[in-house]
Amino acid sequence: MSAVIEPQLDRRVPWFEGDVPAERVPEKYRLSRAYVPKSRYLDPAFLKWELEKMFTRTWLMACRTEELPGVGCFVEYEIGGHSILVVREAKNSIRAYHNACRHRGTRLARGRGRVGSLICPFHGWRWNLDGSIRLVLDREEFVPRSDDDLGLVQVRAEQWGGFVFITMDPHAKPLLEYLDPIPRIFAPFQFENMRYRWHKSVLLPCNWKTALDGFLEAYHVAGTHPQLYRFDKSNTNIASMKELEARAWAPTTVYERHAHYSSVGQKKETSADNSAKDPTNRGTGGVTDERLSVALSVQYIADDMRGLENERSWRAAEALKTADVPEGATAGEYFLQLYRELSLAEGYDWPVITPQQWAEAGTAWNVFPNTILLPNQGSAFGYRARPNGLDPDSCLFEIFSLDQVPVADYDKKRDFQPQFFEDFRDADLGEIFTQDLMNAKEVTVGMHSPSFDGHRLSEEQEMTIYNHHRVADRFLWTD
Ligand code: FES
Ligand SMILES: [Fe+2]
Repeated sequence: MSAVIEPQLDRRVPWFEGDVPAERVPEKYRLSRAYVPKSRYLDPAFLKWELEKMFTRTWLMACRTEELPGVGCFVEYEIGGHSILVVREAKNSIRAYHNACRHRGTRLARGRGRVGSLICPFHGWRWNLDGSIRLVLDREEFVPRSDDDLGLVQVRAEQWGGFVFITMDPHAKPLLEYLDPIPRIFAPFQFENMRYRWHKSVLLPCNWKTALDGFLEAYHVAGTHPQLYRFDKSNTNIASMKELEARAWAPTTVYERHAHYSSVGQKKETSADNSAKDPTNRGTGGVTDERLSVALSVQYIADDMRGLENERSWRAAEALKTADVPEGATAGEYFLQLYRELSLAEGYDWPVITPQQWAEAGTAWNVFPNTILLPNQGSAFGYRARPNGLDPDSCLFEIFSLDQVPVADYDKKRDFQPQFFEDFRDADLGEIFTQDLMNAKEVTVGMHSPSFDGHRLSEEQEMTIYNHHRVADRFLWTD
């Protein structure tokens, strides 16, 4: 168990054992209090260092197990110059290999597919799905080599929550330890019983971390998504000072490696007055009928983002609009009850999530280094960003929507195709995501201005971003 930092008034990120002293970090990359120099985003040498020292030593979310439905199914995971094949080698076993032939190095497979054995496209050497060598044409002509020497080189692969993670570091700690405290806190959300609703990848003209940073805080909601506060969601005019008075607040919490923010409702006078995240506490500004207020906020997310909510929660919200909310219950509580009844009646499990568990789960988590997960009851979002080649100003950004499936379908295989769009404006991502992704280029252009030196971060609402860099330093400046 890692040390858990309790929410506190002073949100400067605490020091953990293993953090590197500032002197060890080259000056131009050095963090200071709530400040991140821009060279960590813009400098090609920094990206090379991330690829060499960090991505090779962390656990990385490579795919979901459902993407490997049958024996022989594989998914290629690329990061930097590395290509790794994640393969279902047996019904209950998934392995990963460096995607390189033992003969002359040829990449063995691309993308995704299903094979009986892995066959090199160049001279046809073959491997069994467990990585052992199966065929070397004219083997007697070669210097005698052990089967071990000719086997595919394994990459560690471990699973959690329906995800397959890989690490290229043979000495990395086990995945569950690395992910701590996420597996414990996410347990009631049952990610393992969720499946993809959709998965879209886009190229963004920004650093891979800039893409993630935009989803690691909710401080931007007032500036970027003003319609979220309004009854009229088509009104995306900049928020008025009056509207800002009722702005939402989302403090961040930092753990040893991972971090999250938590949308807790309206900002209060002092942070001690702010309550924890509570799923019954949601609404739409300016709507006085509490039922309508809750229903509209659920349905806008369901309709616009097509994730985090699902068609059951949408129908529960619809029923709430005209429901007789029992005395003593809030509209938000009654909404959850309707959603629960619908779910159970239609064959879905309804895991009980206690207020304490909701509070700890918060809204969005940075799974260090490059994944974000947003847990919710019945549905979830995930984001992942990877550098695009050696260009620090370009990345591949992915958004995926996950839905819990009925209990009867847990073992059912489903067809699923991820989609790629060069331009996010062609990806039909809805208003909210479009607003977010529009920021990517503007941030990058502005960061390149000689007038800008680095991020000045909120110590309450943006420490998720700072924390990423603190943790990265451990990998970047140690052997
Ligand atoms: S390079 Fe793969 S078989 Fe020759
Ligand atoms: Fe946003």
